[in-house]
Amino acid sequence: MHPGFARIGLRLTLVLLLSLSGCSRALVYSEDDRSRSEAVRSADWIASLPEGETKRQVILGCTPCHQIGPPVAYRKTLDEWREVNKRMKLIDDSLDLNLIRLDAEVLSQWLAANAKMPKHGRYIETAKADIREYPAGAKVGFYHDMTVSAGKAWIADYFGNKLYSVDIETGSVDSFDIPVSVEPGKPGGAHQIDITRDGMVWMTFTKAEQVIRFDPGTKEFRVYSDFQKGANIQYFVMDAERYIHEDVGVGIWMTNFSREFLTRLDPKTGAVQNFATPRTAHLPEKGVHLYAAVADSQGNIWYTETHGNRLGMLDPKTGAAWEQDMPEDSVGPKRLAIDLNDVLWIPELATGKITVYDTKTRKITGRLTLPIAGDFPYGIRRNRYTGDLWITGSGSDALYRLDPKTRKFTIYRLPRRGAYTRTVSFTENGDIWTNYASFPNAHTQTPYDAGVVVRLRPR
Ligand code: HEC
Repeated sequence: MHPGFARIGLRLTLVLLLSLSGCSRALVYSEDDRSRSEAVRSADWIASLPEGETKRQVILGCTPCHQIGPPVAYRKTLDEWREVNKRMKLIDDSLDLNLIRLDAEVLSQWLAANAKMPKHGRYIETAKADIREYPAGAKVGFYHDMTVSAGKAWIADYFGNKLYSVDIETGSVDSFDIPVSVEPGKPGGAHQIDITRDGMVWMTFTKAEQVIRFDPGTKEFRVYSDFQKGANIQYFVMDAERYIHEDVGVGIWMTNFSREFLTRLDPKTGAVQNFATPRTAHLPEKGVHLYAAVADSQGNIWYTETHGNRLGMLDPKTGAAWEQDMPEDSVGPKRLAIDLNDVLWIPELATGKITVYDTKTRKITGRLTLPIAGDFPYGIRRNRYTGDLWITGSGSDALYRLDPKTRKFTIYRLPRRGAYTRTVSFTENGDIWTNYASFPNAHTQTPYDAGVVVRLRPR
């Protein structure tokens, strides 16, 4: 049942009961009454786990693919956890991701002892929005990211090697076979999909080790292939306007998930150059996860190491890079945003906090806590039209708007359980865009036999 309906239902029943019994006491709702009607979400389940290093490692290891806890990713007994965690380790290994660092037996014991299903979800005030869902692509696909360009929303299938466009007016879908260099039936590993200022759609392919550009006008692909094998080419360096950063030589930059270097691509010649970053010695290189990056107004590149738990900066002029630890252990800095004042907004996957970092003074100037306990924010994107920051409530089936001046949050709830999101895009008319990006896609409880792009229009 939709939580809103449940809430109305509860209220009606109470009013009826009270009037039937002739009770004259004022009808007062405690927080508890209201919350009983809320669906239990992943964030509620995570909030009930005991704090500490193990919990942070569980979030860092389990939530990069799908929500954990409800609606489906939980178990009860030790044997059930053992069986599932063994399978999860195999999936993690087969994709060469190195996400789950805890030993499977330690993990299973801890989850069996500590993970309990809360009786009800926590009630939270949400803002109103008109939400439209656009089904596109095969249900068995995995759609990591989405972007909007040329009147279309774009998603790419990690396993199926297809690019889908969705007309944002009509919802009609077109598909294009992506010319990745992999054996038939093997995943190209479509990961990030974003645009440069000219509207070109760019994608990284973590398994094919390629970067591919698609022209939405001519429908032509251009394939770039000179990247290091096994490096997991991952994430485009973004700018404050939420475009792919283009440096003075019009080069674009990428991170590599499994290696500690940044890569520059010259889109004209296809030439590739790698820039080493400092070794984060407490982890093997593959486990550091140099993940997301943004460029400041001087062209310096600021990046996060999610498992390495560090923030770094590469100066492309000198090629020198330095790093610093995040404010606490294992917070898991993920997809950061930068604003026009060169301030970084860094989501902490494992704590539900946001580190605010001024690149000019090189100091942390704030640490904000998301209003929904247990949430794990995957990404922050800055709306180029309004300056607002949008945060994925990846564990709460929500999107947050953050006003950078007042530092106040507004919560928008998405209409599905298991609505796991990784990115937010924007159009000039004020619409906010995302997609259900769970791996597996089927963990998001939708009625569609497809992937789903979502448009949120705040009221
Ligand atoms: C690399 C991606 C990945 C990671 C990391 C991952 N999972 Fe999964 N998970 C999957 C996939 C894919 C499925 C569906 C296939 C399956 O069940 O084998 C799944 C399914 C599950 C299910 C079964 C859901 C059902 O249908 O009943 C549970 C429970 C689960 N995961 C828990 C976890 C836990 C706990 C962790 C962390 C230790 C974890 N997952 C980490 C990819 C992942």
